[in-house]
Amino acid sequence: MKKQRTFSHGLILGAFCLGFGIVLAYSDHITVDDIKAAALQDRLNSLGQVIPASIHDNNLVDDAMVMNNQGDQEITVYRATKDGKVTGLAYEIFGVGYAGKIKLMLGIDTEGKVLGVRVLAHKETPGLGDKMEVKKTDWILKFDGLSLGNPPVEKWKVKKDGGQFDYWAGATITPRGIVNAIRNGLELFAANKEKMMDMNAPKAEPNKGGH
Ligand SMILES: Cc1cc2nc3c(=O)[nH]c(=O)nc-3n(C[C@H](O)[C@H](O)[C@H](O)COP(=O)(O)O)c2cc1C
Repeated sequence: MKKQRTFSHGLILGAFCLGFGIVLAYSDHITVDDIKAAALQDRLNSLGQVIPASIHDNNLVDDAMVMNNQGDQEITVYRATKDGKVTGLAYEIFGVGYAGKIKLMLGIDTEGKVLGVRVLAHKETPGLGDKMEVKKTDWILKFDGLSLGNPPVEKWKVKKDGGQFDYWAGATITPRGIVNAIRNGLELFAANKEKMMDMNAPKAEPNKGGH
């Protein structure tokens, strides 16, 4: 009798554990999918801010490729196409700010002209070093339409360093880091134009591309 009861308790416990395990595995699966979907949407939103909808009829995330940049660093290059022709590119660029790395998305046309730049992540000081956020000031919009030749490369600096870009009183490190990042980003394109525009290059996985 006692043996039988122990056995049935064991069965109940086993069934409970199995059920709990299944629920846990299923909810984990949903969470991972949700996170992936949210990350993809986030990426599409930031790409949409630097590549105008009018210049492409493709899904920017679908036509991405991964390029090796200086050996160990990989960058994901998103290509805008219209009627099968490349019309623009977007890729992440990085600047060194006061409090560390500043991550930005740069969008350019096929001639290397800036279509848009937006900050994706930074740790700069709120109220002092965050004027590159488009919700705070229009500083970052002043790069639209510029390229390596316009202004000349030696003017791709903040005004304090003899260049053409405004800096913020008491906080020059942040804008300096961002101007350098954009200039480097344009130089990257100038040096790798064919590779970055090659639509035959192997496609990047849609969820790759964050750093
Ligand atoms: C608490 C604290 C936070 C600061 N945050 C920033 C910042 O986010 N960005 C920045 O460029 N400078 C920041 N600074 C100022 C820098 O240390 C540096 O003095 C400044 O960037 C130099 O700019 P200036 O040549 O216009 O004075 C901060 C300074 C302090 C004390």
